[in-house]
Order: sequence, then C-alpha cells, then structure tokens
Amino acid sequence: MSPSPAQQLDRMITGYWISQAIYAAARFGIADLLKEGPRTAADLAETTSTDAGALYRLLRALASVGVFAEDSSGRFALTPLAEPLRSDVGQSKRALALMSGDEQFLTWADIEYSIRTGKTAFEKVFGQPIFEYLGEHSDKAAIFDEAMTAIHGRETRDVLAAYDFSDTRVLADIGGGNGSNIIQILTDYPALQGILFDLPHVVERTRDRIASAGVSDRCQLIAGDFFRSVPAGADTYFLRHIVHDWDDEEALTILRHCYTAMPSDGRLLVVESVIPPGNEPFTGKLLDLVMLLIPGGKERTEPEYRSLLARAGFELSRIIPTATELSIIEAVKR
Ligand SMILES: C[S@@+](CC[C@H](N)C(=O)[O-])C[C@H]1O[C@@H](n2cnc3c(N)ncnc32)[C@H](O)[C@@H]1O
Repeated sequence: MSPSPAQQLDRMITGYWISQAIYAAARFGIADLLKEGPRTAADLAETTSTDAGALYRLLRALASVGVFAEDSSGRFALTPLAEPLRSDVGQSKRALALMSGDEQFLTWADIEYSIRTGKTAFEKVFGQPIFEYLGEHSDKAAIFDEAMTAIHGRETRDVLAAYDFSDTRVLADIGGGNGSNIIQILTDYPALQGILFDLPHVVERTRDRIASAGVSDRCQLIAGDFFRSVPAGADTYFLRHIVHDWDDEEALTILRHCYTAMPSDGRLLVVESVIPPGNEPFTGKLLDLVMLLIPGGKERTEPEYRSLLARAGFELSRIIPTATELSIIEAVKR
C-alpha cells in the first residue's frame, strides 16, 4: 500500500534522521572498517572509540533503510547503499556525507534567517563567507573538494558527451577546483591545452592531482581571484557551478572579467542547472536553497541567464542539455 500524504510528509519532515545517521557512520569511517568483511558493533566501537551500545543502535537504524546489513550472528556488513561511503572507491560519497552533516546541517538549522532576510545563514552561523572559511580550514576545504567530485564527478562525462571541444585550442576552467573536470577534458582531447584558475589554497592542493593524471605539461595552474581578473590566453572559458554561487552583481563581475580576458571570437560555457518552469521535480530547485543558505547565490531560469549574460556583453547562443539536469549555456561576445 502506498503511503498516505500524511505518512509521506512525516518522512519528509524527519528526513534528517537518516541523513545525520549516515553522517555519523561517515564520521567514524564505518564503511572503510567493513571493507575486509563483517564486524560486530562491539568490535567496531573498540576501533572507533565509541560507545558499543550507541554504535549498535546507529547501525541497526541504518540497516533498516538498507545502509549496512546485520547478519544472524550480529555482525554488520556493507550493502550496495553502504559501499559508496567507503573513502577508497571512485566518486566516494563519504566527503559529501561529512560536508552535509557538519557545516551545512548547522546552516540549514537557521533557514528561517535566510528566508526572512534573503541573506546567507552560513555567514550568520560561521561569521564569514564560505570560501573564506574554507581558505582558513584546510581540512574542511579538502572535504569540500572531495564532495564536489561526489556530486559533480559524473557530470564531466555528460558534458563531454553533449559538447564537442575539437575546435577548442585552450580551455580555461575558471574556478576549476580539484581539477577533476579539466583532467577529464584534457585526457579526452590530447591536443587541447588547459588553464585551471582558482584561489591560491585550492590550486596548491590541485597541483598533485594534475601531475598524477599526467597532464601537467598541458595544464597551466593559475592562482587568483575572479573578482579581480581571470587569466587571458584561452579561447574557451568554462565555468561549471560558479555563476550559481553568487548573486547577480557578483556573477556579473566574474562574467565581465571573462569578457575582458576572451578574444573576440572566444566562447563562454556556463555549466549549470537551468531551472525549468512548472512544478516538476528538479534537484536544481533544492540546490537553489543550498545556494541561498550557503554561498548566497542562486539557480537561474533561461530568461535570467539570457539577461545576466547580456548585461555582461554576451549573447546566449545555445543551451545544450546533458544526460543529467545540467545544461551547457554557450555564449559569445556581442
Ligand atoms: C562550487 S565549486 C565548483 C568547482 C568546479 N568548477 C566544479 O564544477 O566541480 C566553486 C569553486 O569556485 C572557487 N572560487 C570561489 N571563490 C573564488 C574566487 N574569488 N576566485 C577564484 N575561484 C574561486 C572555489 O574555490 C571552488 O573551487
């Protein structure tokens, strides 16, 4: 029998019970501890310096929703839903669980403030903007980078399937973060040169990844601040999940810097969720709340992107859908 509307609402209201239980399992690295085989809660509690009874209750609750499973001898094992919580698997979700359950959860607790004022609850709770905070907390910044891969990792494949970069000579990934995007594009296009531009502390962490991916000779790493300028020298400027982090005036500053850096026949690719009209489910509509609460940005509709780009001197030429909710918004200089 399908749940009644009241039961569905109950699940929505208490959804954080599950998300925070997953956070706790991620915090104590339980999935990593089970990769060699099932273990009892008592054994896991000894390794993690936790309370055996409380840890048992946590794992039993998670097993009830398919994350871990308890066998008849009381040992817990990984399940398909628990596997991605291991930190050593491709596109691990552990960092996402840590980021969501920690600062983000505390920020969501203050959603009333953001809705009342239109301002970011993150700054109210943590006393500074998110990217400044990450600059001062290297452990959190490393988790943020990993979480970006967990959320956006497969998007690069979808962008590559939807967009042909063969006539691009130099691609600048503005706010390129941990490099997962540019590494994939450079790997698929061996004649392409790349520039990864991001804040100094991010570029430092990304250098090793670029080297171990074997693309250092084709990828220039440039540290800077896109509110001051972006590097010249590319023909394609690629901004994925950058414009949505900022309000219109801030986004305009970044776009205008791209305009200045670009040659007259250059291309701008803004990769974002474009909010569709109507009531259909669309993750971007929820991510929009994350943007409101945390960095102070927003997800935008097609008319909003068209007008923002026009104010920065661009003409929106095409919106190319991908296999996910993400679209590639292509713009040229007017
Ligand atoms: C939401 S992440 C997106 C990362 C990457 N483009 C992706 O799609 O995975 C935003 C990125 O913008 C970078 N960033 C934030 N403020 C910046 C600034 N003032 N100048 C340059 N990069 C900045 C952050 O360090 C981060 O890597």
